[in-house]
Amino acid sequence: MILVTGGAGFIGANFVIDWLAAHDEAVVNLDKLTYAGNLENLRSLQGDARHVFEQGDIGDRARVDALLQRHRPRAVINFAAESHVDRSIHGPAEFVQTNVVGTFNLLESVRAHWSTLAAEEQAAFRFLHVSTDEVYGSLDPADPAFSETTAYAPNSPYSASKAASDHLVRAYHHTYGLPVLTTNCSNNYGPLQFPEKLIPLVIHNALAGKPLPIYGDGSNVRDWLYVSDHCSAIRRVLGAGRVGEVYNIGGCNEKTNLEVVKTLCAILDELHPDSPVMPHASLITFVKDRAGHDRRYAIDAGKIERELGWTPSETFESGIRKTVAWYLENQDWVKHVTSGEYRHWVSRNYAEHPA
Ligand code: NAD
Ligand code: TYD
Repeated sequence: MILVTGGAGFIGANFVIDWLAAHDEAVVNLDKLTYAGNLENLRSLQGDARHVFEQGDIGDRARVDALLQRHRPRAVINFAAESHVDRSIHGPAEFVQTNVVGTFNLLESVRAHWSTLAAEEQAAFRFLHVSTDEVYGSLDPADPAFSETTAYAPNSPYSASKAASDHLVRAYHHTYGLPVLTTNCSNNYGPLQFPEKLIPLVIHNALAGKPLPIYGDGSNVRDWLYVSDHCSAIRRVLGAGRVGEVYNIGGCNEKTNLEVVKTLCAILDELHPDSPVMPHASLITFVKDRAGHDRRYAIDAGKIERELGWTPSETFESGIRKTVAWYLENQDWVKHVTSGEYRHWVSRNYAEHPA
């Protein structure tokens, strides 16, 4: 079996669901269930004996040691993290705690477990660390895309904490020989994404007739990848990636934030013509910029394509339509998510981003 951490969050839950659709190999899912963890994301797996959920913290050595001893996974895939840049600006401590200290403790547990394995099992074992393109910093419009050899230059507490965790993972391979793999992926979107990130937030606000907040002038650029393509890339790296290597994953879909929001509005106009607010783009509101806002991210995904034959299945156009349709069909999911802690967070954040 494999051990997935953070598997009740956006990408982790999509990964577990896709994994069990593609394999019979069981998954132990360790998640602390922070505000971003949601067991409803895993509802489709209820009653499936191949999925074992364990609530717990990746930083809890005793807990993780016991889990590793009990389940003896052949691989650990680490999704668990604090993941939202705006939250990291308001409260960086939690990011250092989970992303840096938590990953360190997880690595210590995994190293201790791995060192007890027989030579053959040691060679086959993998620790796959899921990271972000944000560790490379910000690009100017004419700069080449981030490659695996781009120097790290993280700008937010979120990206700095992810960069620190990447360095620890690298060091555990270099120093102890732990068989690690690291992936650095661009912005994901798709079903089950918590409506604090740009795409689900805009869909949610548009349906509620609320302003669509665009930081600054909307010209910041992100590369967007449909979440199931990220999951297929991780499966590919786990199966065939060279130990100790880093693989950048991206969608070749660079868009300004304004383009993304206008595209969402046009799809909503078409799929939700009875909306009281038409056109939805009339809700677009430019608000105060994010502190230290990275201008542009772009990924050169040539290495994973050349070495492992991975390419994304969805274009931005197909993925974004599927995403809007999913949110329209799953309004109950959105309602449940937005009734909790999230509401307090939204009012606090946007009080600091006046129009
Ligand atoms: P998310 O915030 O939706 O989910 C994170 C999950 O981790 C939640 O279920 C949460 O409960 C869990 N978690 C948090 N702290 C934990 C801890 N100490 N112990 C155990 N579980 C804990 O995040 P996401 O968007 O699904 O991102 C998953 C991973 O992918 C992160 O490592 C993130 O840095 C990386 N990533 C995300 C994106 C993106 O666009 N969302 C892009 C590239 C990489
Ligand atoms: P986000 O989804 O938070 O991802 P990240 O910061 O990790 O790239 O934001 C994507 C882009 O959208 C980023 O440039 C910030 C911008 N943004 C807005 O303009 N308005 C918003 O309300 C949010 C949440 C993000």
